[in-house]
Formats: sequence, C-alpha cells, structure tokens
Amino acid sequence: YVEEMKLHMEESEFFLESEKIIRPIMLEIDQINQKLSEECGRPVVEYMKWRIKTPESIVKKLYRKQRKPTFESAVKNINDMIGIRIICSFQDDVYKMTKEIRKIPEMKIKKVKDYIAHPKSSGYRSIHIIIELPYNEDQTIGLEIQVRSAAMNYWATLDHQLSYKHKLGDPKETEKIRKELKSYAMDIAEIDKKFLKLRKKIDKL
Ligand code: GTP
Ligand code: MG
Repeated sequence: YVEEMKLHMEESEFFLESEKIIRPIMLEIDQINQKLSEECGRPVVEYMKWRIKTPESIVKKLYRKQRKPTFESAVKNINDMIGIRIICSFQDDVYKMTKEIRKIPEMKIKKVKDYIAHPKSSGYRSIHIIIELPYNEDQTIGLEIQVRSAAMNYWATLDHQLSYKHKLGDPKETEKIRKELKSYAMDIAEIDKKFLKLRKKIDKL
C-alpha cells in the first residue's frame, strides 16, 4: 500500500501542490512572528518548520484509524497531511501566536485543541490548530499547526522517541520510563511557568 500511495502522490503532484499551498501560509505566519516580536521587543518564535506527511506515515495512520489505505481516504480522514510546527520561547508566546493565527481570514479553522490547559495522558503539551485548506476544485486537505514552547518541544522529542520503541522493549521497563517521562512533563510545565513569571519581572526592570 505504501508503494501505491507513493505512486499516487507523485502522479497527482501532491508534493508540488502542497508546497504551493503552504508557502503563502508560512509567509503569513512569519509576518505574524515579525509583528509580535517587534511588539514584545524580543524574538517570539525560536523556529518553525513544515512537512508533508510521508506515504509510509499516511498508510500507518490509516491502518491505525481502520480506514482504507487509499489516497482519497487519506485526504478525507487525515487532518495532518500537511504539518507546521512553531516553537516559541515562552508559554504566553504560544497563546499569542495561536490567537493571531486564528485571525488569518482565508483559513478555515476546524478545531483548536489546547493540550496545555488539558495535557494528554502522556504529559504532552501543545496547541493544535486544525485547518481545512482548499485543494483541487472540490477537495480540502488537512493542515495541523502545532504551537509549543521550546521546553515543551524538548520533552516531546524524547517522548516521540519512546513512542517508536514501545512495542519492542521490555513492557515493565517501558512503563517505568513512561512514568518518569510524564513526571518531567510536569516539571517542565512548572519551569515554563516560572520562566514566564521571571521574564515578566525582567520586562519591568
Ligand atoms: P491523530 O492525528 O490520529 O493522532 O489524531 P488525534 O486526535 O489523536 O490528534 P492529536 O492532536 O492528539 O495528535 C496529533 C499529533 O500531535 C501527533 O501526530 C503528534 O505529532 C502530536 N502528539 C500527540 N500526542 C502526543 C504525545 O503524547 N507525545 C508526542 N511527542 N507527540 C504527540
Ligand atoms: Mg494522536
């Protein structure tokens, strides 16, 4: 199925088309970044990047969602065919960015998930903005924008590595690691809060 998916994506010029769609959006986000950074007198975004979901990852996700492994099905059922990740310095920057992105008029926002106010059971914290982008005449394609702080991202990277291992290793050891990692998610959230408070004090000096 991966080969078929890859072929279809190449033939329909999915990668090229997606790039065309994503470029103006990245520009718009960069303008927001410049505006906010100017207002705050410091950089608000540490970095941002985008990616198009790979055929392997698409097929895996469809399988997990118990959906047909076709391209049509992918476009319909996957809401992160295109992904953007924005890493901010501080927690309030995450919310500022989110607020501004929500104001972009031409983007149809399907859902905003606040995993900072409501962390996932793993401990994961981020804001996800799910957007439907026009694609072709009658299709839309899913864009997921993840916004999080540098500290939350630091955590998510290690957690992501664990998620790739969990089926292979010793289940007891994995569970232990998972618990430890979750406790660090809470530590990091605390540090993020403390850093924000301290930055505000420094701002006032
Ligand atoms: P899916 O897109 O099928 O996962 O649907 P969902 O409703 O579960 O989406 P969700 O917003 O929870 O997750 C989408 C993306 O967020 C994932 O592909 C990951 O990139 C990221 N993510 C979600 N949960 C975690 C987590 O516990 N740890 C890490 N590192 N990343 C996560
Ligand atoms: Mg998920």
